[in-house]
Amino acid sequence: ITVKIDAGDAEKGPFPYYMLKEITEQPAVMRRLLSRYVDADAKPQFDAALLKALASADRLYIVAAGTSYHAGLVGQSLFEQLAGVPTQAALASEFGYHMPLLSAKPMFIFLTQSGETADIRQVLVNVKAAGYPTLTLTNVITSTLAREADYAVDLAAGPEIAVASTKAYTAQVAVEALLAAALGQFKQVPAAAKSDVAHALSLAAAGQQALIDQQAKLHALATALFAKTRNAFFIGRGTDYFVSLEAALKLKEISYVQAEGFAAGELKHGTIALIEQDTPVVAFITDPKTAARTRSNAEEVEARGAKVLRIAAASLAQPEDQLIVDDLPALLTPLLTIIPGQLLAYFTSLDRGYDVDRPRNLAKSVTVE
Ligand code: G6P
Repeated sequence: ITVKIDAGDAEKGPFPYYMLKEITEQPAVMRRLLSRYVDADAKPQFDAALLKALASADRLYIVAAGTSYHAGLVGQSLFEQLAGVPTQAALASEFGYHMPLLSAKPMFIFLTQSGETADIRQVLVNVKAAGYPTLTLTNVITSTLAREADYAVDLAAGPEIAVASTKAYTAQVAVEALLAAALGQFKQVPAAAKSDVAHALSLAAAGQQALIDQQAKLHALATALFAKTRNAFFIGRGTDYFVSLEAALKLKEISYVQAEGFAAGELKHGTIALIEQDTPVVAFITDPKTAARTRSNAEEVEARGAKVLRIAAASLAQPEDQLIVDDLPALLTPLLTIIPGQLLAYFTSLDRGYDVDRPRNLAKSVTVE
């Protein structure tokens, strides 16, 4: 197992683990992205040649792995809705060998914290050889994938040392939102003109801080839910489903609890058979379109003995919800809901006495296919 540690301003300071430090840095990362990619008129700004290349594409493919893939799923909706371009998030390790039928003018976006993931590089080499335009969104702007793509955009999250990715994920979602809005404005897509991503990101920074300030409560919830369990489920619909996948991955990576993220409506098609007395289920409820349905899925598992933690947006809150996140536009709620996901995983790992920053069997950057 190798953990690549970047030198520089990466000091742990008063934090017991890098992961906790990096979780708490997320509001500052949101603000840094605003100062870097938003102009004085609150308009997102990116290189004109990059926007032109993206605008000529009839389809975008976001190729990624692990946590970055989960951010790519959110990006898929952002590019479709804000920029009006069909977009598909794909797992690099699958895409490399089972490429779908490509559209006439695709553009490839490689989403990668490290910029070194071998599975992604394999796709980049192939699509470049085929002559397609490429963009890397990465937290390491000097990395191989940044150098080899036609365009590169810095996620600017600062060095991420803990193996489990936290601030790179929220930076990925935020940069995808800014880029999708900039592209939509460039193409004069009405949804982009109406969107105010810059304002939403500053609300996200404040909402993240409010959640980070509830660490003691999240520690207590983590202990109550996960102290003894061997498995756990995270459910939601739409972007809440994508967050469920990422929250489950966090718990798996550092606490070794077998955790799964599910589209809430799919539970009844099989997985509900796994619910027993005290099985922990975390339900994300931030979308007014689906809140009632996810709530009934939560009740179904509760009736079968599950211990349910409901995490809901303020405007949808009900008395049974134990954690409330601020309201944000639907596609940006992952910037908030993942914070409890990260902190629940962190405190579970801490309670179990594991090395939070260096989980077994995992490496920070995986340079083999
Ligand atoms: C490794 C890490 C994960 C990460 C994945 C993709 O497996 O342990 O945390 O999400 O690689 O890495 P990347 O650097 O491409 O985002």
